[in-house]
Amino acid sequence: MADRQIKLYYKNVTAKIIGDEHGISDTQLKTLAKETSPLISQLNKERKAGKTPFRDLPYNEQTAQQVKKLTAELKGRCENLVVLGIGGSALGNIALQTALNPYMHNLDDKQRKGARLFVFDNVDPAQFGSFLEWVSDKLDKTIFNVISKSGETAETASQFLIVRKMLLDRLGPEGFKNQIIATTDPTGGTLRKIVNEVGLRSLEVPQGVGGRFSVLSAVGLFSAAVCGIDIDAILAGARDMDKRVSNMDFYKNPAAINAAINYHYYTRGKRSSVMIPYCYALKDFADWYRQLWAESLGKAKDLAGNEVHIGPTPIKALGTTDQHSQVQLYREGPNDKLFTFLQVESFPVKLPIGPAPDNVPELGYFAGADLSKLLNSEKQATEYALLQDKRPCLTVLFDRVSPYTIGQFIYLFEVTTSLAGALFNIDTYDQPAVELGKQATFTLMGRKGFEEMAGEIQPYTKIDADYLV
Ligand code: PA5
Repeated sequence: MADRQIKLYYKNVTAKIIGDEHGISDTQLKTLAKETSPLISQLNKERKAGKTPFRDLPYNEQTAQQVKKLTAELKGRCENLVVLGIGGSALGNIALQTALNPYMHNLDDKQRKGARLFVFDNVDPAQFGSFLEWVSDKLDKTIFNVISKSGETAETASQFLIVRKMLLDRLGPEGFKNQIIATTDPTGGTLRKIVNEVGLRSLEVPQGVGGRFSVLSAVGLFSAAVCGIDIDAILAGARDMDKRVSNMDFYKNPAAINAAINYHYYTRGKRSSVMIPYCYALKDFADWYRQLWAESLGKAKDLAGNEVHIGPTPIKALGTTDQHSQVQLYREGPNDKLFTFLQVESFPVKLPIGPAPDNVPELGYFAGADLSKLLNSEKQATEYALLQDKRPCLTVLFDRVSPYTIGQFIYLFEVTTSLAGALFNIDTYDQPAVELGKQATFTLMGRKGFEEMAGEIQPYTKIDADYLV
């Protein structure tokens, strides 16, 4: 089956369905088009000036070749791939794996086309310790891909040092060298220093590409390729979307419409943006989107330096699971959210529902229907119910989930984020607020050069017995 283009369906947000106050009238859409169109051209110019190198990742043949070459070299000697990374160095990897490999990939050799994948984006000793116990007698068939642009991130660095010791203890220096692949800055940073010193194999986090925009670089592509995913098709899908999101015609540009609608609603009190995939395979893309949207758009100052404290709060949900957890709030709670559904027409597996027992004819209406019909009916039912309460809804329609459509989706939301940032007039690509917590961690862990902060932090770390019940 040929892959078609994913589509953004925005009719339901219009005033025709949910009324002027909560919807977008055609006149308002025209105003948004006027406001957004110059920003499409601004983004195209910024790209040409080399300011947004993430836009060119789908065209980077060299990276794709390097990733495929390394993947081929590992064939037969990598049964387990372990990614050590966090934030933009992990969320895309997880999302690609959940989307494009079968649910039982890690457990069922028959369903698995590549290595098993384990991604550690936390420093919980019980979780990591349990894994290390499992993997300790499989080290010669396990590759650790440590991903960190800076090499300084406490979580990734600490995991790496634990694994390094384990590999050195069990396999010696050669073994350590063989089982690690580092993905990091091409020239600078702590991890690059180790790569150069030890002669580790490495891949690059391209310069000027922030973690949350890096999934289409070696950061996301390597684990995908080793786990049997067609990375060429992902990149082709992204290139296809690039044409559409570079289109100067607002009405033909899905990123422009997506960004403009999100902006419109944010400025009218819809301060949260809920992404609800009705497809388990897409659930971790809601997580990926959450980081992309939050770190890019949550900013204290606008580009003119005014204090604005702006940014829609991204919320991840999953249909139908969260119908039984969140929909009560979403329909009757504050009308402060915009909903983006992800809907898939065709699933890789047909699963007809069995007949009802003779004594329970009331369940007979299911019989013979495919399970995907139930899933998609529930999506439509939930959307209908939300619209009854004037909650605006968008839908991203996939004909199916495939590397090609996933490449389109990634690129669509990356460029939507850029355009939304331009509409909010903020710096989309920095994340100054993440720094303070990182520095405080260094201080609490006794890192040299951070002593000054210690006195400042101390009062906050004490548990005051007066308030302990
Ligand atoms: O998007 C980002 O820039 C962050 O989420 C980073 O990816 C994250 O903090 C990890 O940084 P690093 O790759 O330097 O370890």
